[in-house]
Amino acid sequence: MKNPKKRYLIANWKMNPASTRDAEKLFNEIEEKLKSTKNTEIVICPPFLYIPRLKTLSSKITLGAQNSFWEKEGPYTGEISPLMLKNLGCLYVILGHSERRRYFKETEKIIEKKVNSALKEGLIPVICVGETNDERKKQETKKTLGKQLSAALKNLQFISSPSDLILAYEPRWAIGSGETPKPAEAGEIAKFIKKKVGEEHPVLYGGSVSSQNVSSYLREGFNGVLVGGASLESEEFTRITQIIEEE
Ligand code: PGA
Repeated sequence: MKNPKKRYLIANWKMNPASTRDAEKLFNEIEEKLKSTKNTEIVICPPFLYIPRLKTLSSKITLGAQNSFWEKEGPYTGEISPLMLKNLGCLYVILGHSERRRYFKETEKIIEKKVNSALKEGLIPVICVGETNDERKKQETKKTLGKQLSAALKNLQFISSPSDLILAYEPRWAIGSGETPKPAEAGEIAKFIKKKVGEEHPVLYGGSVSSQNVSSYLREGFNGVLVGGASLESEEFTRITQIIEEE
């Protein structure tokens, strides 16, 4: 049965590619191959630097960022505010990604503040949650996710529609590893997240998504996917788009 609900395909380019020229090339390749989509919101989150240039290149692709700070402006060396992103024409911002939790020691409190300020500027936060391999082995996945979901739960009163706040289930061990959870296991987590945060909030799956496995996650009730590695190859990314549209 077709799910009439909106679907999301969010690309996280991470710290790639190395120049504006290469970013423009990849973006144009994707844009050229992209058929107009009816039910799928295609979002690309490039490094901050490339956003202004890419913004001028497509009306089919929405732009997002991979992080933002919690203040609007001020003495915060090296940071980018949600207000700046909004002014650049970004609509989405990925927050709480496991690489930020791991390498930049972002805590639940920090993520909660970032989500709050992003919402206040009218950005849609895509909040990432996910367990480590250790936690998974100890069967502590739901306990970990329960804690991580507090960033979302403490900010629910600031949104007017459920699609103003998106969750992404990204098991840490699946990111960039080629390993993925069994679709039914991930589906159980999608239900768990929806039960905690609210049935109507979009919940995405992320972690080694490819054209081979995307359908199985959609069939388990996910409203879309967050894609890292596969979003850097225009052919593969376009295949994923087509599958989401047809599923
Ligand atoms: P991956 O990354 O698709 O390369 O596993 C996903 C992510 O980190 O969001």
